[in-house]
Amino acid sequence: MALNGFDIKDFLENYWQKKPMVIRQAFDDASFIEPNDLAGLACEDDIESRIILQKKGEWQVEHGPFPEDRFSTLPDTHWTLLVQGVDQWVPDVAGILKSFDFLPAWRLDDIMVSYAPVGGTVSQHYDFFDVFLIQGEGARSWQVGGVCGSHSEYLPDMPVRILKEFESKVDVTLQPGDILYIPAKHSHLGVSVEDSLTYSVGFRAPSIRDVVDGVSTSALEHLLEDDCYVDTLQSLQAERAEIPADAINHIKELMLRAVNDEDLIRSWLGQYVTDRKYQDHDVLSGEAKNYLARLVQGEVLVKHPSARFAYVVKDQNEAALFADGSQYLASHVLVKYIANQYELGSDKLISLLTSDQDKRLVEELIIAGALVFEDEFYAD
Ligand code: SIN
Ligand code: CO
Repeated sequence: MALNGFDIKDFLENYWQKKPMVIRQAFDDASFIEPNDLAGLACEDDIESRIILQKKGEWQVEHGPFPEDRFSTLPDTHWTLLVQGVDQWVPDVAGILKSFDFLPAWRLDDIMVSYAPVGGTVSQHYDFFDVFLIQGEGARSWQVGGVCGSHSEYLPDMPVRILKEFESKVDVTLQPGDILYIPAKHSHLGVSVEDSLTYSVGFRAPSIRDVVDGVSTSALEHLLEDDCYVDTLQSLQAERAEIPADAINHIKELMLRAVNDEDLIRSWLGQYVTDRKYQDHDVLSGEAKNYLARLVQGEVLVKHPSARFAYVVKDQNEAALFADGSQYLASHVLVKYIANQYELGSDKLISLLTSDQDKRLVEELIIAGALVFEDEFYAD
């Protein structure tokens, strides 16, 4: 489902991770969930949700799950309900992702949905995510300011993050079906002008901090305690108390050698980006032994809505599949099919299962709960 009036090439070259963009009427129909159903999700134990209220100039934050009657006691204006990971629970909301196929799936975070009556806002802030704000029902006004960072200050002692300084450079009111793209770290402020729903499609980038931490922690697993620094002749020429440049260079070399390992980086990254963000739906460890017979009989395997897939091509024949933070090796063609497709066709899947390794992959994915027989999942 392509976005109306949207030039992907122009966007990727000139806007993505650079500057905000407004896409008017990108969706003909942007009603993917009803406000009442969103409130229902916020009452569930496994779902992360919050309500942000402004009362006489004071800010108040409440965290879900909420009792149902909380919604009948909220004021008429000036509050926002925010629910995370709605794509994992509502197939119509998950369907929005098909319109963002021009970006890599492994960079996707989740779809957060917010509902706000007039005046509802979460105040001026910035996020570490690139975000597409899709206007559902109603209208919301948005202002986008400059680029922020760790130097940017928030007002002290507030329950919500409110940037001390905010200068708007873009000022728009979104109507149903419009999209505002905001690059990571750009300050922004949205205020509801009528009862409105906003879908935030967020893309996360691994922080360098996480990369260094993750890769070096993985490297530690392979290093032995007796792998030590060895003096070089050169480094023994220094003054008694001096640490010479040669020693520092040698330590640097040893350290880089320990982490400069493509297999290690690939495994860490694949596992990191496919870790389930919310352990929500129970992982259904399926009965996998006779799965092939069930497929032949016409049963359908689906990808679990919370499961995350990504892969790395090893060579023409083999690829490493990452699913929910675990790594599997199988044929390139099968891995590609399972990871890329939204829906798996049983006939196609059967035709791809030509080796024992590939048959085992599907079995392991069922045991891990990443693939589920449709009737079992929806019967849950
Ligand atoms: C909202 O949906 O109003 C808040 C989204 C955001 O600014 O990150
Ligand atoms: Co934001």
